[in-house]
Amino acid sequence: MSTAEPESLPRRVGLLGAGVIGGGWAARFALAGVEVRLFDPAPDAADGVHAALARARRAWDRLSPVAAPHEGAVTIVESVADAVADADLVQESAPEREALKVGLLAEASAAAPAHAIIATSTSGLLPSRLAADVHGPERFVVGHPFNPVYLLPLVELCGGERTSAETIAQAAAFYRAVGMRPLVVRHEIDGFIADRLLEALWREALWLVADDIATVEEVDDAIRFGAGLRWSAMGTFLTYRLAGGDAGMRHFMAQFGPTLQLPWTHLTDVPTLDDELLARLVRQSDAQAGEMTVAELEELRDDCLVAVLDGLRREGYGAGEVVAETERRWRAAAADGAAPSDGTPRAALAADGQLRLHDAVVQPGWIDYNGHMTEFRYLQVVADATDAFLSLIGAGPEYAAGGHSFFTVETHLRHLAEAHAGDRLAVTTRLLGHDERRFHLFHELHRPADGAMMATSEHMLVHVDTNTGRAAPATEAVLDVLARLAADQRELPIPEAAGRRIDGDRLRGAECR
Ligand SMILES: NC(=O)c1ccc[n+]([C@@H]2O[C@H](COP(=O)([O-])OP(=O)(O)OC[C@H]3O[C@@H](n4cnc5c(N)ncnc54)[C@H](O)[C@@H]3O)[C@@H](O)[C@H]2O)c1
Repeated sequence: MSTAEPESLPRRVGLLGAGVIGGGWAARFALAGVEVRLFDPAPDAADGVHAALARARRAWDRLSPVAAPHEGAVTIVESVADAVADADLVQESAPEREALKVGLLAEASAAAPAHAIIATSTSGLLPSRLAADVHGPERFVVGHPFNPVYLLPLVELCGGERTSAETIAQAAAFYRAVGMRPLVVRHEIDGFIADRLLEALWREALWLVADDIATVEEVDDAIRFGAGLRWSAMGTFLTYRLAGGDAGMRHFMAQFGPTLQLPWTHLTDVPTLDDELLARLVRQSDAQAGEMTVAELEELRDDCLVAVLDGLRREGYGAGEVVAETERRWRAAAADGAAPSDGTPRAALAADGQLRLHDAVVQPGWIDYNGHMTEFRYLQVVADATDAFLSLIGAGPEYAAGGHSFFTVETHLRHLAEAHAGDRLAVTTRLLGHDERRFHLFHELHRPADGAMMATSEHMLVHVDTNTGRAAPATEAVLDVLARLAADQRELPIPEAAGRRIDGDRLRGAECR
């Protein structure tokens, strides 16, 4: 089944259930700009959703300097019908009880628009059984996420006997659009792929505690200091392919295949979940958590996941590549938002005549030992604004692929105020001048929260024919956009700091004296 359909953002989603998973879905969709309507009979459902949204905003502010275009509104409603009316996607995340889900999905599918995809977050119930009373069972699919839904990209898709291939493709397109990585489970099996693996590990972990071989903390240490670190990059098969050295999997299996016959694990035996084992698990896991509250542990988990995703993004690999793709989409959406709607650069101008092409959020890793944003990150933010300007004038990556590019040849940056982690920064841009080979740009970096001017920067860019490596005139199309922008901004006063330089004369004078 194909998941190659281009991503498409659902306009509105209807969520059923606002527990751990439903709250995570609300945050995942809202942060991607999707409107969310949510039903949960629990009286305190809204508190959980707001807490999940706050955690998600905090995590994404730390993970990505690229701000999502805008946040979708989240509304808690009073009925299933109200949640799903006008939804493109319904996502059910009620308790894992088959009879409850069958009834709820029947009710939701009867009330949802005919085009809506009806999805369930079930961890392992079979979609053909859950679809028993669904109206339009061809549009029903499992969309099994992972906690925290707003950070972990994986979502397993599994259709039932009557699910159509188009439903799988459309659901995948929706999930991709909100920064997820759909994995199609090609055969309808209990537990799908991920929970089959997790359950095998979980069963063995319970045995180790039940047999008093290890405490819960020792089991967790055995994962997080070793294989757990490796799993996020290599999974299990690639790990063992490497463990076989140059001779690969054949060598690995020759060495370790025979151990599969040894009684190392309990394999499919299930430990008896009696009161004694339960009490031991509760006692040890409470001791493991120590003084930390659930909210503190969730924050710790999210911060560590952000660190892993950040590292993987730098490698352009695995889940990090999904984050990078999401950022590219958000950047493109911001550029589209700023892009001229009537085809003229004038439409990209704000009411004050300035261009607003780039926003950024200060990342924790951008902070130096003085406790505020380190100097080169100011340059990064304004350089991203210059990139957005280049896209606006038609000189973005496609232009460069055609053998032309603008190179920055001179920059003057003034650091005016301290930026702190989590600060949202907005750049305004002014074209001060241009000729057929150059343009002169001036950015102001503001902090909208208090209106502070954080920095100004001034840049000269030269147009280069990248085949010859020499300065050359820009194309007519680019020059035309530059000319129109210059005309539109001509009336703006020249910024007071334009043309400034570092005044070292007085210092040199002091030395001479
Ligand atoms: N917790 C996980 O790690 C995880 C991971 C992936 C998938 N899932 C699946 O997601 C689903 C939800 O799990 P959870 O962990 O969020 O459970 P949860 O107990 O935290 O939340 C369930 C929520 O559903 C609400 N609810 C009860 N009856 C309802 C109804 N008729 N209509 C709408 N809402 C109703 C409850 O009030 C509760 O808020 C389950 O199917 C579970 O298997 C859970």
